[in-house]
Amino acid sequence: AINLENRSFLKLLDFTPEEIYYLLELAEDLKYAKKSQTEDRLLKGKNIALIFEKASTRTRCAFEVAAYDQGAHVTYLGPTGSQIGQKESMKDTARVLGRMYDAIEYRGFGQNVVEELAKHAGVPVWNGLTNEFHPTQILADFLTIKEHSNKPFSEIKLCYLGDARNNMGNSLMVGAAKLGMDFKAAAPKNCQPSGELQNECLKIARTTGAKITVSENVEKAVKDCDFLYTDVWVSMGEPQEVWADRIQMLLPYQVNTNVIKSTGNPNVKFLHCLPAFHNRDTKIGEEIYQKFGIDAMEVTEEVFESKASVVFDQAENRLHTIKAVMVATLT
Ligand code: CP
Ligand code: NVA
Repeated sequence: AINLENRSFLKLLDFTPEEIYYLLELAEDLKYAKKSQTEDRLLKGKNIALIFEKASTRTRCAFEVAAYDQGAHVTYLGPTGSQIGQKESMKDTARVLGRMYDAIEYRGFGQNVVEELAKHAGVPVWNGLTNEFHPTQILADFLTIKEHSNKPFSEIKLCYLGDARNNMGNSLMVGAAKLGMDFKAAAPKNCQPSGELQNECLKIARTTGAKITVSENVEKAVKDCDFLYTDVWVSMGEPQEVWADRIQMLLPYQVNTNVIKSTGNPNVKFLHCLPAFHNRDTKIGEEIYQKFGIDAMEVTEEVFESKASVVFDQAENRLHTIKAVMVATLT
């Protein structure tokens, strides 16, 4: 039997395929329980710290609502207002919070920081996004894939276009390798996952039957895929100066109607972790339009709003999957 009690959730590389399946199944159970109003409060009396060194809508709200649904209490520590990052090291912060809280969520910059926190906290630590990985997002993505497909993961073709070197590109490749999927990423050379991570995933793939292909060829990558995924071209924490370069490099990797047609699959589904730049309805979207004359980046409005798009199912599934991580590691 699978038992994840007291484990931290820092990256998918630390988990076996069976443990990942277990979390997905627990998420399905918890989702059903909430919808049928039969949810137990398994986290009654637990206190949880939520550290966010970067902005968040989905991840923060999912952690808070999941905690409240399960009877736990949370403290939100934002990018400013605590001693973190100014006066106090992560090692000391870990030992302080570990004395007060039953678990800690951390969103920030280097993966090494969340690893350091977990090493010294003495309680489970959950990665709510680092520069390198976004593992709770992958659980929501895979639950959504499961809900929108009648094939097992081993028969799913998942394609990722755009900045494949960021937290999403990295984590999707790892997740796909773990669950034996056919994963294809298309991105320009310097937006591809590091050779080191690719090799690690190829090694995992040999044991799970996964297929991992990274190239610059959009047409080949998208052909026959079941799910098409993209993410922003510039991630949180990256300097504004990279915009011009990224737009120029990544425009050929935009998910638009032509790309959807190139899949040859009339039932292909579009995935995005969100937030997405698909129109000018945001401050940054308008700035990009003024500077570069484009009104969408990684995905067009047409695709984002099409019936292929399941991005809000993904967003909802953040709640159920994060709840599964909390319940599995705290009970
Ligand atoms: N997808 C995601 O992590 O969204 P937030 O940045 O809003 O948490
Ligand atoms: N790659 C994005 C993901 C946001 C959920 C970022 O890190 O900003």
